[in-house]
Amino acid sequence: MDLNWRHFIIAETSDGIFIGCAQLKHHKDGSIELASLAVEDAFRSQGVARALIEQLLSQSPHPLYLMCRQELGIFYERFGFKVIGAESMPPYFRRMLKVLKIFVFLTRHEGPLIMRLDG
Ligand SMILES: CC(C)(COP(=O)(O)OP(=O)(O)OC[C@H]1O[C@@H](n2cnc3c(N)ncnc32)[C@H](O)[C@@H]1OP(=O)(O)O)[C@@H](O)C(=O)NCCC(=O)NCCS
Repeated sequence: MDLNWRHFIIAETSDGIFIGCAQLKHHKDGSIELASLAVEDAFRSQGVARALIEQLLSQSPHPLYLMCRQELGIFYERFGFKVIGAESMPPYFRRMLKVLKIFVFLTRHEGPLIMRLDG
């Protein structure tokens, strides 16, 4: 939703092949989200995601939020992100959580984690 290439950074090989991307999304409620993190299969577990995250953290104001699958919580904790409850979420994330609750109910998947990194 609301994708804008200007908000993305990409990782590429020395010969210009795309290997990963991530973005900072600015929501209408003023919150900023680390989003769209993805690395090509063949280049995973080599620190590409870490490099993308560190680059975005160096240019992002705080607090910074993200939404992720439960199993990635430990990965993001390494950067200082902490899981937050609904009472601490900006309106955008509370809305998203409500929408996703329907998906979670219908598919019996686990709900996502919402995490925050303070400055
Ligand atoms: C998650 C993802 C971006 C990680 O990219 P990466 O370049 O391999 O990450 P790094 O090399 O910097 O770090 C690797 C670490 O990420 C963590 N990690 C990656 N995928 C994971 C998963 N599915 N479950 C739990 N931990 C995971 C592990 O701690 C891993 O360490 P290891 O390589 O020693 O096992 C990549 O697997 C991906 O693109 N997945 C599909 C898209 C996605 O899930 N994006 C995240 C949206 S919140």
